Amino acid sequence: MLNFQGEHILSVNQLNRDSIEAIFAVAKKMEPYAKKQKRTKVLEGAVLANLFFEPSTRTRVSFGTAFNLLGGLVRETTGMQNSALTKGESLYDTARVISSYADVVAMRHPDANSVAEFATGSTVPVINGGDGPNEHPTQALLDLLTIEKELSRFDRKIDGMHIALVGDLKYGRTVHSLSKLLCHYKDVKFTMVSPDGLQMPDYVLDAVTNSGHQIELVNKMEGNLAADIVYQTRIQEERFPSQEEANKYRGGFKISQSIYDAHCNKNSVLMHPLPRDSRGDANELDNDLNNNDNLAIFRQVQNGVIARMALFALTLGVENLVDKYETEVPWYSAKKNS
Ligand code: CP
Repeated sequence: MLNFQGEHILSVNQLNRDSIEAIFAVAKKMEPYAKKQKRTKVLEGAVLANLFFEPSTRTRVSFGTAFNLLGGLVRETTGMQNSALTKGESLYDTARVISSYADVVAMRHPDANSVAEFATGSTVPVINGGDGPNEHPTQALLDLLTIEKELSRFDRKIDGMHIALVGDLKYGRTVHSLSKLLCHYKDVKFTMVSPDGLQMPDYVLDAVTNSGHQIELVNKMEGNLAADIVYQTRIQEERFPSQEEANKYRGGFKISQSIYDAHCNKNSVLMHPLPRDSRGDANELDNDLNNNDNLAIFRQVQNGVIARMALFALTLGVENLVDKYETEVPWYSAKKNS
C-alpha cells in the first residue's frame, strides 16, 4: 500500500486495492465537511499551488474547494499564456520555484508525462490533475468512488459488475485511468464501445486482460449498453491532429432518454467525467436525461471534492486530525441537508 504522506500522486499505477480503499475511507469521513455540516481548520496556514496550464472547470475548482474546506489557502495560475513556461522556463525550474511557495501542488498540463517531469523538481507533493491524453488519476478515483456508492443503492458491488465505456476511448484519459483502477477488482466485465479509429489503446487493453477481466470491443451502442454502469465520454477534439479529423466523429454516439430506454438496463447508472458537449450536433448525453434518477454525473462532481480532500489530508499527513481541529459553522448553507 502507498505510504501517502509526502508522496506525489501522478498515476493510478501507484495505487493497489488497499490504497484505493484507504482513500475512500478518508473521503467518506470528509462528507460532513463538504456539505458544510462541519468545519475544520486542520490545514490552516498550508498553501496549495493550483497550476492549470490547460482548460478546466471542475478539477481546478474542486481542488481549490477541497483545500479551502480543510482550512488551507489556494494560489493558482491558469492558462499556459499566463505562465513563464512561455518564456522558455523548464518544468523543473517552475517546480523548484512553486514548491518554495506552496506545501502541495495540483497541476494540469496538455503534454503526457509533464506532471511527472514537474514533480522531479518539486520538494512538495504534486497531484496530477490530468496530463494530456495520458492520465487523470483523481478523476478515476472519484469515478470509482461514485461507482461504489451508486451500485450500493442496488446492493451490488464493483466486484462482478458490468461496465460499458462509450465514445472516445483513444484520447479520453479518464477511461484509461479508470480501467486501470478496475484491474484491482474481481470479475469485471468491460464492454468498450467506440467508433473505429477511437478504440482503447492496447496498453490499457493489455492491463485489463492480464488482470483476468472479460472485454468485449464493439463499434456501435445498439445492443451494447445493457450494463450496470454506462460511462459516456466526450470526443476529445482538442487532442485530434485536426478539427476536420475530430468532426468525423462528432455526434456519432449520442445517449438520450429514448436510447436509454431502448438499450440500457432498467437501472443502468449513467456516468460522464464532464464537461458534456451540449452543442446540438455533438450532444453525447442529452439534457432529456437530467431528471433520470440514474444519471449520476452531478453526484460524480460531489464525490470529486471529497476524493480530493482525502488526497490532501493523506499526502499532508492529517487524515486522523480533521475532527480534532473542528470549528463551528455559523452561517446557513443549503448543503447541510443535501
Ligand atoms: N472532468 C474534468 O476533468 O473536468 P474539467 O476539464 O472541467 O476539469
